[in-house]
Amino acid sequence: MNETSPTAAPLAIPDPILVTGGAGFFGSAFVRAALAAGARVVTLDALTYAGHTDNLGGALGDPRHTFVHGDVTDAKIVGRVLGEHRPAGIVHFAAETHVDRSIDEPSPFVTTNVLGTVRMLDAARAALARYSEAERARFRFVHISTDEVYGSAANGERFTESTPLAPRSPYAASKAAADGFVGAYRATFGFPATIVRLSNLYGPRQLAEKLIPLTVRRALAGLPIGVYGDGAHLREWLFVDDACEVLLAVLARGVPGAIYLAGAGVQHPNLQVVHAVCDLVDALAPPGETLAGRGISARRELIRHVTDRPGHDRAYALDTTATRAALGWQPRTPLGEGLARTVRWFVDHPEFFQRTAALYDGERLGLGGIAPSDVTAASLATGDVTASSATASGVTASGVTASGVTASGVTASGVTASGVTASGVTASGVTASGVTASGATANSTAPGGVTAGATPPASTAPRKRGTP
Ligand SMILES: NC(=O)c1ccc[n+]([C@@H]2O[C@H](COP(=O)([O-])OP(=O)(O)OC[C@H]3O[C@@H](n4cnc5c(N)ncnc54)[C@H](O)[C@@H]3O)[C@@H](O)[C@H]2O)c1
Repeated sequence: MNETSPTAAPLAIPDPILVTGGAGFFGSAFVRAALAAGARVVTLDALTYAGHTDNLGGALGDPRHTFVHGDVTDAKIVGRVLGEHRPAGIVHFAAETHVDRSIDEPSPFVTTNVLGTVRMLDAARAALARYSEAERARFRFVHISTDEVYGSAANGERFTESTPLAPRSPYAASKAAADGFVGAYRATFGFPATIVRLSNLYGPRQLAEKLIPLTVRRALAGLPIGVYGDGAHLREWLFVDDACEVLLAVLARGVPGAIYLAGAGVQHPNLQVVHAVCDLVDALAPPGETLAGRGISARRELIRHVTDRPGHDRAYALDTTATRAALGWQPRTPLGEGLARTVRWFVDHPEFFQRTAALYDGERLGLGGIAPSDVTAASLATGDVTASSATASGVTASGVTASGVTASGVTASGVTASGVTASGVTASGVTASGVTASGATANSTAPGGVTAGATPPASTAPRKRGTP
């Protein structure tokens, strides 16, 4: 099996196919797989920080492939693409996908994952009304979802198609909401949609904010490798080519209205996966003198257990019995083989990390900080802000007005605040160093000689950053 032809025998799939989010990790692998299976492909992608046309590689020069730069929430663009290309099928990948970012700032996940899906469904329904009966009968809308919509699996539990959804992260909640709309369009309008819920994926071109590529990047650079919590969280890691195969099978043989589950069938703790990646990096790029000079003989020694993600699901597991029987699909790539191919790809493509390093520099995300866009000036001025155990460093704030602020266990360093007005501030356990406050007005100043001028920036710290 090579990277451009994951299927042994091409399946008869709808042609042409519209792929949303096709410049991302999974979408771009699927674009290559669909082209290899003989279909023409139209990729619609907004090229957010997570997408890049480089991911499409050779597909960009393929005359059977068309790239359209556009947002799935933009009804005009989506309508135009459907009108111009008259796709026989749509595979809807486009999404905000990083759980940590959804914790820091949930609303873009609602916009893209929920509204974007509804816009795609509406546009596809409108397009179908102009299709012939035969075209309508053949048309498929495949919505890409995740095992995370089910929440955390209990010991020994495997989610089935009918397990109730119980999402626990903003990302998972947005995907579950999108799944709900897809099901509703099926029930209400008879819309020919199918949902595929997949377990954690990995492979070449995955953005280095996700566990496996981030581990490879930091291991290669000799940087500390963060493992959330105890690292015992169980995931079923599915190689991206195997995931593309199940989608081709759904397009060829799937039944409208069905839900298909695709997982690797074997759970591994995150720490074990990180160990395996470190060992593979050691084998392909021996630690060398720089690391030896720091007393490090193996990349595993770079591993640090860091604060767990809030609400981190302990386990996911999918019961894929029905999907395997219905589609004749099964994963073909054992984790060891898939990881070896993945690490080898990253080692052979240093330009990938060079390009994506500018998008994400490895800072810790997802500790639950309040994102600037979620905090309006009005809510800052009038709302009761409560912060506990907040840690802020390198914060710069200006023109902040706060009232009813309660802060405890706040540690702030290197804070610069100007034009701060604070009233009714109660602070305890505040440690502040290097604080510069000008124009601060404080009532009820905090105990311990810390002026309230330092408190608002700490309590409204936009994002918490640290070593991952
Ligand atoms: N990667 C996984 O482990 C995994 C597992 C299960 C399901 N999924 C699902 O697969 C899909 C793709 O995941 P991925 O890992 O490739 O994500 P990714 O973050 O690598 O790529 C997302 C792509 O969508 C594009 N995009 C984002 N917002 C858009 C918008 N508004 N309009 C058009 N394009 C937009 C981005 O530019 C990018 O190319 C998602 O729906 C995700 O929920 C992923």
